[in-house]
Amino acid sequence: MKNVKGIDTNDMRAMVEAFPSLLCLTKPDPSIMTVASQTFSSGLEGVCIAGMGGSAITGQMTKALLAQKAEIPIITWRNYEIPRCVTKKWAVICVSYSGNTEETLSAFETAKKVGGTLFVVTTGGAILGQSRDLPVALLPKGIQPRAALPAIFSIVLPIVEALVGVGSTDFSKLSVILNGLVKRWGKEIMSPRNLAECTRSLVPLFIGSGHLASVAYRAKCQINENAKAVAFNAELPEANHNEIEASHMYQESGIVPIFLRSTHESKRMSARFAATDAVYRQNDCAPIHVRLSGLSELEEVLAITHYLDMLSVDAADIRGVDSVRVDRIAELKRRLAEGS
Ligand code: F6R
Repeated sequence: MKNVKGIDTNDMRAMVEAFPSLLCLTKPDPSIMTVASQTFSSGLEGVCIAGMGGSAITGQMTKALLAQKAEIPIITWRNYEIPRCVTKKWAVICVSYSGNTEETLSAFETAKKVGGTLFVVTTGGAILGQSRDLPVALLPKGIQPRAALPAIFSIVLPIVEALVGVGSTDFSKLSVILNGLVKRWGKEIMSPRNLAECTRSLVPLFIGSGHLASVAYRAKCQINENAKAVAFNAELPEANHNEIEASHMYQESGIVPIFLRSTHESKRMSARFAATDAVYRQNDCAPIHVRLSGLSELEEVLAITHYLDMLSVDAADIRGVDSVRVDRIAELKRRLAEGS
């Protein structure tokens, strides 16, 4: 049985339970942080975070959290190559848990040719073999990439913080806070198990705004990958300009909107959530509001992700599916490898 620091990595529930401790399992080597700080001082013009699936989501969260504070653009890239705007005055962070994902390898090769500062976050694979002399942050092996989110985040966020010149996060403190928040499940908010029971025959539509839009997307992916079930995500205010027109069909389609609420929402955004809730209710559909009070934006991102990751594991149990295996992703990768 594989394990990382005593956590059974073949047990998705154990991995999600370990979310707070995985936040301080690893951190970037001081030499990597030196490269990042020097790159910031050298007049960096942008940061691109490349990766796919479970390896990509921390980039999206980092961007959502730092975009307002950073004076240079932070972009995420989930595709082959890298966009043309990325020049040698940019830093590129390539994240691939396995180190063998073809889109990320392509982004890595393109970034190498472009010649900016290149960081690699991985456990090994082909990317590691081609990363001699580059700043490489090694992740603990043997975890499903999506379950490694806290460990990946604890590497990617500090590197980007240094690259854009903002203060660094104390991950030990964050880990303690996250641990404590679990006690609020089932009190301040419905327990993940109860939410999974209430929505067992429904299709969740996770809706977030700002930093919580990235969490809505993560939740959709976790329901897909862990529970092998259909889920959707949307973002406010954008969804008020299109998605809302489909809400008269939510009831008959079995869709349940799950609103991810933030203490940091502007008054206008709160009004939008309330108005959206009212329009949905007129169409016989009652949204569920998920909210944890008194947290910073960063804490909200992680705490609600942790809670919804557990929802996905509970949903998998209720559906009687194995939350660890991702046979279709493996099959697709195998087919592509054979055809290449
Ligand atoms: C599997 C998972 C996937 C992978 C994706 C990219 O747990 O989350 O979404 O993350 O297929 O693979 P890596 O992360 O190895 O680059």
